[in-house]
Amino acid sequence: MSKNVLLGVSGSIAAYKAAELASTLIKRGHCVKVIMTENAAKFVTPLTFQTITGNEVSVDGFAPVEHFDVQHISLVKWADLAVIAPATANVIAKIACGIADDLLTTFMLAFPREKRRFIAPAMNTGMYENAAVQDNLKLLEKRGFEIMEPREARLACGDTGKGAMMKTADILKRIEASAL
Ligand SMILES: Cc1cc2nc3c(=O)[nH]c(=O)nc-3n(C[C@H](O)[C@H](O)[C@H](O)COP(=O)(O)O)c2cc1C
Repeated sequence: MSKNVLLGVSGSIAAYKAAELASTLIKRGHCVKVIMTENAAKFVTPLTFQTITGNEVSVDGFAPVEHFDVQHISLVKWADLAVIAPATANVIAKIACGIADDLLTTFMLAFPREKRRFIAPAMNTGMYENAAVQDNLKLLEKRGFEIMEPREARLACGDTGKGAMMKTADILKRIEASAL
């Protein structure tokens, strides 16, 4: 069944993989809107996601717009589910602490637990294994977030270990399973 998917993209080197995820979701008949962090927009441009999804991409909740609405709230109402892919250590920590200092984290704070919330971490192995990140992920899981466990692979930094974002096909399976 077609869903309204809010795709959150944060500042990981894996941000380019989110473009493939957006494209796959669209081809599967889902409607996708994207919120990027400012750091994510340094890796991939909002134009990429705008072109793939056919929807405006939100980065700055304070940016002047033609038709004003409170973006993080209207997007919360619109979305059936939210997936942050890739999720940086930073964004995971902010969500765990209830910090809402940009559009993506403000959106996540307002997004109700009755809707499904997926987090796909992507980072260097050392970061992923850090107790702070592990504790934050456990806390989020306890609060009903569904963590999409990263894979072991050769990472962009040259290290081999756990921290590569879950493959697009597996993320899609999890999202579509949630629609049943
Ligand atoms: C080249 C480069 C690659 C990075 N890759 C990652 C990554 O894969 N995962 C991660 O958690 N942080 C990564 N970082 C660090 C984040 O970009 C940094 O923590 C930033 O503050 C995250 O901002 P955001 O969470 O608001 O998007 C990377 C930084 C640089 C410069």
